[in-house]
Amino acid sequence: MRKSIWIVLILLVTACGPAVETAVSSATSDSAESAAAPGMGRMGMGGMGGGMMARHQAPVPEEYAGMTNPVPADEESLARGAEVYGRLCATCHGDGGMGDGPSAVNLDPAPAPIAHTSQMLGDDYLFWRVTEGGHDFETAMPSWEAALDEQERWDVINYVQALGSGAVVPGQMMGGAMFDPAAEAAQQAEMLAQGVEQGVITQEQADTFATVHGEMDGWMVANSDTMQGSMGQMQQTILDDLVAAGSITQEQADAFNTVHDLLMAAGLMQ
Ligand code: HEC
Repeated sequence: MRKSIWIVLILLVTACGPAVETAVSSATSDSAESAAAPGMGRMGMGGMGGGMMARHQAPVPEEYAGMTNPVPADEESLARGAEVYGRLCATCHGDGGMGDGPSAVNLDPAPAPIAHTSQMLGDDYLFWRVTEGGHDFETAMPSWEAALDEQERWDVINYVQALGSGAVVPGQMMGGAMFDPAAEAAQQAEMLAQGVEQGVITQEQADTFATVHGEMDGWMVANSDTMQGSMGQMQQTILDDLVAAGSITQEQADAFNTVHDLLMAAGLMQ
């Protein structure tokens, strides 16, 4: 009797091998969902990001999923977006969109560095978050559904993305830093160094992660007009694309996921 239970168990585990792995890597979006449950807003991934990672892993709700920005990011849209941004967003997100406006001081979680994060998130995710604000996550991010019509929301999304790509010069009203890719790279290097130092990952894993991350950044720049979903939803698509294009190997893609999960579990990932 006992023996047969063990055999069944072993068979199950063997058969579920790949499924278990998938479950582990998608566990992040599960916890993002539970983070959205009432009273559990602070669960998330912990760590330095105040749960930002959990929000970035959350699946985009059905009514927004698949939306793409219908407003071209031309001069007019950027001008309208700049006006909205300066009037309604800069006080928290800062002139440069790095989350460091004067009203950010007492907010926990802090306003997101949207100039940067908007480069890595789908239009549908951004439209959802601007429309509904922090409602699902119990954060101070206001909902703009009533104050801004749809075009104004897309205009301001165009503007925020342009802040991050360097296509516009930030205003000078609220102060704050500009998105600086070099600073971002330094921060990532620091995170990996900490991971190695704490024995969470090996140096080789850190190097592979940095290489793959660089390729992913390139992919996001090249595909910025068609990106959809949260980072959690996009990660595997991007990796698969890069493997198919021969930019990275399947082993590198797998290693990236492993390191990603390890760093997240250790609370090192922002
Ligand atoms: C009262 C302060 C405040 C104001 C004003 C504000 N935000 Fe936010 N915003 C936040 C906070 C705090 C977060 C981080 C928590 C979250 O994602 O819910 C955030 C997050 C976001 C995100 C999600 C980014 C990500 O990486 O997940 C977007 C997009 C965003 N804000 C856009 C805007 C826009 C556009 C405006 C102006 C129309 C605006 N915000 C005004 C506080 C603010």
